[in-house]
Amino acid sequence: MPNSRHADQASRRLPDVGTVGVADARLLPNDSFEAAWSSIFFPDDAKGRLLQTVVSNIRLRATVPFEALPLHGVVLLTGRPGVGKTTVARGLADKIARTVSGLGSWAFIEIDPHALASSSLGRSQRSVEELFGRLLEEQAQQGPLVVLLDEVETLLTDRAALSMEANPIDVHRAVDAALVGLDRLAQRHPGVVVLATSNFPGAIDPALSSRADLIIRIPVPDPRGRRLILEHTIAAVAAAFPGAQPLLAAAVLDRAAQLAEGLDGRRLRKAVAVACANEHCDPERVTPEDLYATLRIMGEEQ
Ligand SMILES: Nc1ncnc2c1ncn2[C@@H]1O[C@H](COP(=O)(O)OP(=O)(O)OP(=O)(O)O)[C@@H](O)[C@H]1O
Ligand SMILES: [Mg+2]
Repeated sequence: MPNSRHADQASRRLPDVGTVGVADARLLPNDSFEAAWSSIFFPDDAKGRLLQTVVSNIRLRATVPFEALPLHGVVLLTGRPGVGKTTVARGLADKIARTVSGLGSWAFIEIDPHALASSSLGRSQRSVEELFGRLLEEQAQQGPLVVLLDEVETLLTDRAALSMEANPIDVHRAVDAALVGLDRLAQRHPGVVVLATSNFPGAIDPALSSRADLIIRIPVPDPRGRRLILEHTIAAVAAAFPGAQPLLAAAVLDRAAQLAEGLDGRRLRKAVAVACANEHCDPERVTPEDLYATLRIMGEEQ
């Protein structure tokens, strides 16, 4: 019923971006997040399985008591920089909203953990309590919600590893406050999903990892993934600069994917730009050799 959804959406109030700790706030579904989802290539339908598990957990949480099945709605995505964690999390938020109906209209809020971590004593704890206890609680009362906690180790730092130099009492209390806030949200609102990402899973407080319903380590792309990422990037360049079309030949993509072993998705996409910065500085004149040479150098730099 699109009309009721629009009515729902119109009545939903989002927080202002820039309110302490809020990096982004929008209604879902969202077309640019949908494009983000399509742009990510993971092996073996890993994306599809991720979506299925999250959707199934939302349904379980809405019906089975928390005491029997303690699902927190927390998904932790780990992996090297540039493997697509943030992009796939945004895409997943969109897919969840398109897939799960019946809970109301979905919203998305991205938390800026750095804005919450403050050096002045007591402020981090207060900001975290304000964020979880008031802002996210108010949002969850309005309807289902996806929260992105990017670089979660900044907010939920392993308390056992805190040094005495860095204001540990405040950080300790802020972590406690974040955990209490997550527990409250999970128990009161089955329609809240928290997507957390980290390059440093070892630096995350184990109490968060324990609450995660799903921990997924995203690997660097396999050969098929590398080929798809290169193809997707080159196709976008060739749409604007048709001279780049020859790079889309199957043999070129095969060879390039082979040379790109070990590169993450971000490096792969950047490699196409570097190849375009050839001796003519003209993407119209980029050649397969430009791409191969770039990938060889990037591979050696690793
Ligand atoms: N598997 C992949 N398929 C397609 N594109 C990818 C993949 N992995 C990374 N990319 C691309 O690389 C870029 C960086 O991705 P993203 O910012 O999501 O990575 P990240 O894992 O969050 O990195 P960081 O840990 O540095 O924050 C994006 O443009 C994304 O599209
Ligand atoms: Mg990221």
